[in-house]
Amino acid sequence: MRMIIDTDTASDDAVALAMALNHAEVDVVAMTTVAGNCSLEDTTRNALYTAELCGSAVPVYAGADRPLLVKARPATWFHGMDGLGDQGYPPPSRSAEEEDGVSALINHIRGNPGSTLVTLGPLTNVALAMAQAPDIVDLVGRCVVMGGTANKVGNVTPAAEFNLWFDPHAARMVFASDLPIEMVGWEVCRGEAGLDPTEQAALRALDTPLAHFFLDCNSTAFESARRQSGTDRLELPDPTAMAVAIDRDRVVTSSSRHYVEIEAESQLTRGMSVVDSLDVTGSPANVEVINAIDTDRFKQMLSEAAAG
Ligand code: BDR
Ligand code: CA
Repeated sequence: MRMIIDTDTASDDAVALAMALNHAEVDVVAMTTVAGNCSLEDTTRNALYTAELCGSAVPVYAGADRPLLVKARPATWFHGMDGLGDQGYPPPSRSAEEEDGVSALINHIRGNPGSTLVTLGPLTNVALAMAQAPDIVDLVGRCVVMGGTANKVGNVTPAAEFNLWFDPHAARMVFASDLPIEMVGWEVCRGEAGLDPTEQAALRALDTPLAHFFLDCNSTAFESARRQSGTDRLELPDPTAMAVAIDRDRVVTSSSRHYVEIEAESQLTRGMSVVDSLDVTGSPANVEVINAIDTDRFKQMLSEAAAG
């Protein structure tokens, strides 16, 4: 499977990147970075650092440094100031490519028709790429989006999940396009999908550099989630979406197609993914909404990535 990943690399993104980079059947042809969890400079550095940990020379391109219209409001409060839990990781030894992320996205989609685009952050780069090169929409085989909540509780406002909230106008554009979107909402990544304390200990016991990295760089996010919702599970939204991207047939246990539209104007519900579950609008379905996953299979994939 050829894959292009767009990411605002912070702690859970890093785990998702490693899952793809270490998977024998996934060929990651490019990674583009976007501002979101932290600044573009930090998300790019974190993507390069993660690639290096995986021994990967995948090209990394820095894209948009801010949302289309609204002010950037990063999630350093959740992931740590550097996005990787402030563990003091050293700088990566290589830099991002010179080409900018939006043009790289266009060129890599054109050069790899039918590939899977996985978005792990705000949709700014994808919206800009579509606006500049509308032909790319038909060239994407699958577009797996970590974002939104299917009419469930949000994590950054009561109504919205962070990635779609951060750049609601970009999200609205992307969801209104003909991209073949598979939406992995925040609710799919919670509860049983999170690693309970025993499962976290089992991951640690693998005692590989990546197992330690997965847990350490997510330690701040873990504490933030515990403060927010009281959970003792390590929730990993981007890896959950990556598992769907890599092995949909075995990972997804329930999905359904619906019309989904993103709210961009309201302050109260900015970035909300409004899913027409009962087809009350009569609008044609535009999104495959992932409703449930096989959490054991997901956790097995995490362990396999950590072992590599
Ligand atoms: C999403 O927002 C970010 O904080 C995470 O990296 C993930 O992509 C979860 O809402
Ligand atoms: Ca992310």
